[in-house]
Order: sequence, then structure tokens, then C-alpha cells
Amino acid sequence: KEWTTPERYRHYNDWETEYIDELVDTVTNSPWRLGFHVQPKTGLLNDPNGFSYFNGKWQLFYQAYPIGPVHGVKSWAHLTSTNLLDWEYQGLALQPDMAFDSHGVYSGSALPVNDKLLLAYTGNVRDENWGRHSYQLGAYLSKDNSIEKFDRPLISEPPKGYTHEFRDPQIIPFHDEYLLVIGGQTKDKEGKALTYSSHDLKHWTLNGELHFTEKSMGFMVECPNLVFSNDKALLIFCPQGLDKSVCHYDNIYPNMYVIGDEYNLENNVITNPSALKNLDEGFDVYATQAFNAPDGRALAISWVGLPEIEYPTDDFGWAHCLSLVKELTIRENVLYQQPAQEYKELRTTQTDFTEIKSINYEAKSARYELVIDFNESTKGLVTLMSDKDGATGLTISFDTTCGKMIIDRSSVGESFASEYGFKREFSISKKPLTLQVFVDESLVEVFVNDGEQVATARVFPKADNTYIHVDSDSQIDATCYNLRQTN
Ligand code: FRU
Repeated sequence: KEWTTPERYRHYNDWETEYIDELVDTVTNSPWRLGFHVQPKTGLLNDPNGFSYFNGKWQLFYQAYPIGPVHGVKSWAHLTSTNLLDWEYQGLALQPDMAFDSHGVYSGSALPVNDKLLLAYTGNVRDENWGRHSYQLGAYLSKDNSIEKFDRPLISEPPKGYTHEFRDPQIIPFHDEYLLVIGGQTKDKEGKALTYSSHDLKHWTLNGELHFTEKSMGFMVECPNLVFSNDKALLIFCPQGLDKSVCHYDNIYPNMYVIGDEYNLENNVITNPSALKNLDEGFDVYATQAFNAPDGRALAISWVGLPEIEYPTDDFGWAHCLSLVKELTIRENVLYQQPAQEYKELRTTQTDFTEIKSINYEAKSARYELVIDFNESTKGLVTLMSDKDGATGLTISFDTTCGKMIIDRSSVGESFASEYGFKREFSISKKPLTLQVFVDESLVEVFVNDGEQVATARVFPKADNTYIHVDSDSQIDATCYNLRQTN
């Protein structure tokens, strides 16, 4: 189906019940629905928003267009959880229902303030010539989930010298005040992150451009997030149109990060910044949102999907999902991303493999966690979502003696995004390898060496291809855990 602009911006309630019923039906009968990841009930999901802890629960929102698998007029869908595993759907929390957000409630963050949760987001507005206007808006979510939108913007226009490609505010407490980090574009079409400060969360003063690199960050920066781990500052963001000589990537747009010694507000700078790095070495991670949780952890969750790319589930009326929740830690200037410890609770039965060099195992379901320890430096090949003979599947090949890993999704089920290639090659440590892999129907998340690298891939396999094959030059110990379904 081709989606016209008027269709994409039609009010959700103006769609006929027959259309919606049919959509629900199509999604219900879709292959590839996930078992323990956040996915849309219908339509499209993109960025995670407002990830926070409030009212004794984890709060999570995401960009939603519930009417179809395309980027139509966006709302914030709302989920809550007490364990980061079982998410309860609370409906659409923020909808495009006022002049400041008429063409979409875009991405943003959440911060508990007294007994309310402050939601900070971008209102996207199109004028009669389809010109874009961006407003940075606020709303309070109460404990009963009622919403009270502020009647005036937090920030009513981009700073001088910047275009209306200005969005995705993150508000965090910083020292004795509040800091707002936001993505933008200069009139010369350069991508920037900017910051503002406030004492009362209402009046915001521009600090200017956030300095963290000398290099050009392409034509736009989306979804910047500042988080802290072990007193180091971590900036996560999505540069669009970044020159590949600055940092190599294969995806249409990358999700990147820099680590700095600290964030210095006076100079608006991330001091002693590292080189730019890809946050994920796989195919589909974008718009990761991270926050410092009250329990002391820095937690992150990503959109698994990319802008401007079609996926096989589009034909089934839905698109994309969120990643696992990942705990971020910086040790000796290295970022580690590990699945939140809560996921251990999903484990049901387990199968162990000890001191062997190859595995040929039918997992019987496509919902499991596989942990493999390669005892020595070695070459090897892991094939997932495979047939009995290992002829098809997602392959992870590696050579730890030269420190290389390649993920290849060219021969698993239905292929897509061919213009961006089917392989991702990246560096890993030259030491005995540990792999922790989560497989969930149409999503594979590979954590390498305690999360020194993470590689995420959507894949759309045939239903009965649940074989796991492992071949290695050295001995391995492995465990495959079946995982409980949460959806
Ligand atoms: C990133 C993004 C954000 C924007 C949102 C709109 O994927 O483009 O910059 O706020 O999606 O859905």
C-alpha cells in the first residue's frame, strides 16, 4: 500500500473500524512477532522515549504510529513495568492534539519532579507550505497516568543561526540546576548538539553548542543523550550524513558515542573526548536512549529499526521493536553494554555443552539465550536460525587471533535492506571469546566479551529453522537457556 501524506496525517479516530479490525487481524497472524521485546500492537514503533523510574515502576514510552507500518503522525505510547521484563501497555500518553504538536509528538525524555513525571518532547508542526516548525514542549504525567500538557513551550524556537530541524530534548539534573540537551542543525546544514540550563524547568537559557569533537557531525544530530558512569561522561547520539572517514559505518545512519572525562557546564564541553565509536556493530540500532536510574545503574534501550528502510513485517501491518534494556558501564575508558541482570529471570530450562568443538542442536523455539565460552584464542563459526545441515542462517564468524568478527544475514529467511549490505565486520579483543546471544523470533542481539561490542540484527527466518550450529578450532563450553515469553 502506498501511503499518501493526507493519510499519514489523518486523525487516528477518523479511520474506519473495519480498517482497524483488519489491521489487528493482520498483525495477529504475522510471523516474526517477538516474545520478550517491546513491539507495537499495530503500526510503527520508533524511538524509545521517556525511559525513567517513577511511581515505583519503570516507565517507558516510544514513538508510535498505530495506523500502519509507516512514519505517520506520531504519539508517545506508554508502558510500565516493575521488573524491566513484563511491560504493561498504558495506551497513548501524548497525542498530537494541540497547535504546538499538531503534526507529531516527537522524541524526548522524562524526569520525576516531586510527585509527577515531567515529559519533555518536541512538537512537530507543518505550516501551509509544509515548512517545519519545532517547539520543545512539556507535560506532567500524574500517578494515575493522567496528562497535563503545558500551555506554553519550554523553548519556543531554535536559537539564532539554527534551522527548525531541532528536536529530541533530554532533561537531566546537573549540579544544582537542570540541563537540557537537544539535537539540531545550523543554517549551514551542520549537525550539532546544544544545551540549555534552567533552575525552575520553565525558563531555559541557551548555553550554546555542546563541544565534543572538532569534526563535522554531518547535516543533523538526532537524539543526543548525556549519561554518567563511574564519573565519566558519555554522549550518545545519531549523526546523519556523517562522513565515513570520521568513523566508518554501513547503516544508513549510525548511532554513535564519545566518552569524556566529564561534562563541564561552564565551557559546555565534554572534556578529553574519545574518538567517535559505533554504539552497535550490527544492522539496525538507532535512537538509543539512556538515563541514570535511581538504583545507580546507567540503563539504555534502543530502537531496533532504521529510518527510511522497509522491513518484511511491513506487509503484516507492523514495523520495528525495542532492544533489550542494556546496562552501560565505563571502565578504563571502555564502554561495556550488558543485558540488564533482570533477564536472568526469563531463563526456564537449560541445555549444557561442555568441552566440545562443535554443536549441532535444534533449539525447537526461536526464543533463547545462548552463552558460549571459547576457551582459547580461536577461529570459529556460529550459525543461528539454521536448518539441520547448516546451509542457511545468520552467521557469526570470528578469528580472535587477528581480532575480527563478521555477522552475515544474507542467507537467513527473507532478505531486506540490501542497499546497505548483508555483512557487518568489526574488531574484537584478541583474547578467548565469550558470546552471549539473545534470540527472539526475528531479533538477534550479540554481546561480545561482556558487552565490549554489541551487534544487533533483525532477521526474518523461516519458522522451523531453529537449529544452532557452532564450529570452533578450540574447545568450548556453552549453555542454551530457553526463555519465558513476556508478550
Ligand atoms: C529519530 C527521529 C527523531 C524524532 C522522531 C520522530 O528516529 O527522527 O529525531 O524526534 O524520530 O518520530
